[in-house]
Amino acid sequence: MNKPRETFGSRTGMLLAMAGSAIGLGNIWRFPYMMGKNGGAAFILIYIIMLVVLCLPVMVSEYLIGRRGGSNPFSSFDRLAPGSKWRWIGFLAVLASACILSFYCVVGGWSVKYLADSCILAFSDSQGDYALSFGTFISNPWKPLLYTLIFLGLTGAIIVFGVRKGIERMSKVMITMLFVIIVMVVIRSLTLPGAMEGVKYMFVPDFSKVTAGTVVSAMGQAFFSLSIGCGCILTYASYVKKEENILASSAWISFFDTLFAIIAGLAIIPAVYAIAYMNGLEPDVSAGPGLVFITLPGVFSQMPLGSAAAILFFLALLLAAVTSAISLMEVVVAFIIEEMHRSRKKAVLLCFAVCGVVGVFCSLSFGPLSDFKLFSLSVFDFFDYITSNIMLPVGGMLLAVFAGWRLKRANYLDELTNGGKVRIPRWLALTIYYLVKLVAPVGISLIFLNCLFS
Ligand code: PFF
Repeated sequence: MNKPRETFGSRTGMLLAMAGSAIGLGNIWRFPYMMGKNGGAAFILIYIIMLVVLCLPVMVSEYLIGRRGGSNPFSSFDRLAPGSKWRWIGFLAVLASACILSFYCVVGGWSVKYLADSCILAFSDSQGDYALSFGTFISNPWKPLLYTLIFLGLTGAIIVFGVRKGIERMSKVMITMLFVIIVMVVIRSLTLPGAMEGVKYMFVPDFSKVTAGTVVSAMGQAFFSLSIGCGCILTYASYVKKEENILASSAWISFFDTLFAIIAGLAIIPAVYAIAYMNGLEPDVSAGPGLVFITLPGVFSQMPLGSAAAILFFLALLLAAVTSAISLMEVVVAFIIEEMHRSRKKAVLLCFAVCGVVGVFCSLSFGPLSDFKLFSLSVFDFFDYITSNIMLPVGGMLLAVFAGWRLKRANYLDELTNGGKVRIPRWLALTIYYLVKLVAPVGISLIFLNCLFS
């Protein structure tokens, strides 16, 4: 006889696991530099509008499909629309998760390496300029591969213990630690002389930098950051008990994800400003993806208590990356367990092997394989591009179309309100329903088209 499907043990555990999926490299590594490029607070404002109008309704729908379907993405769609082609949206989601995990584990590996380096530097009391060695490190033919596999192995080691003992327990510990640590780094950053200029930059909007591209970036970032469109929320929701309030949980997760992104900005941007002024330079927070791995180590090496701040910061980065990576791996693992009838252990090994091989190629694209191109992109950029710009938006759009047009309105509202047991004002429930049915497909198509042609 089949074992009954696992569920999360508590509401807090479920919320922290979902928040763990959402809070990740996207918040610490991507959000601050996107803000730096797109007018600071102006970007935050547009991001929040996109989040509320477009992403929250899609997230509610993904949650609802997962809980009602009660299975991995492929089977959940199949149960809600038996025998139809819609289940292939679920398959696309599983594929997208595997692809994201394959490049995500490379950056996760970098955070392992930077944490290790920060510890070595702190304990050997040296101010060695490891900031300069980032390019050398990522182009090394074997070192980054090792870190990528360590990171992926760590993720697999958590998942193998299952939903309650692995995902839920570790997310609770890691997300709590993450908040405490990042607040400590923020305090260090804000107490540096000159830091307030950075705060001003973050909260005084500069609309002159806002373009159509800003709106598109804000939408894409909100998608990636909330982990929607690739089955993570759906899979976690399939482990959620029927009495949870879907709308409240989704709003809570979105709120904490955004709060965390802003806090991460406060940990990084004021410190960059303070150290630049100290050196008589113009602060540059639009340095792109190098902000965290190139600019920040330089900043840490020059500030008092910098080695402790560096250890804490890279530990936070690693914790955030791991809790997101487990949600990505769980999508694939749940699919292998339920559709290919393998044990959890074998499913984890299979996922480790496949994503590990692709991850190695992604990592090598910064070194020995730098000349190898897929559609004129390096392997890493190819996976980043097709997932963030194509698979997630298309997945999200199809999901919204499914929820809005294939599910019956009565069933949608029934699941949203737990059969009328959760008191959600009718106007609010209907607004969400119509945002999903009409606004989300159009809005997401716009991101998709824009990214495709830009
Ligand atoms: N939300 C994660 C982050 O912000 O880093 C990344 C991510 C995880 C994207 C899971 C998509 C996903 F399904």
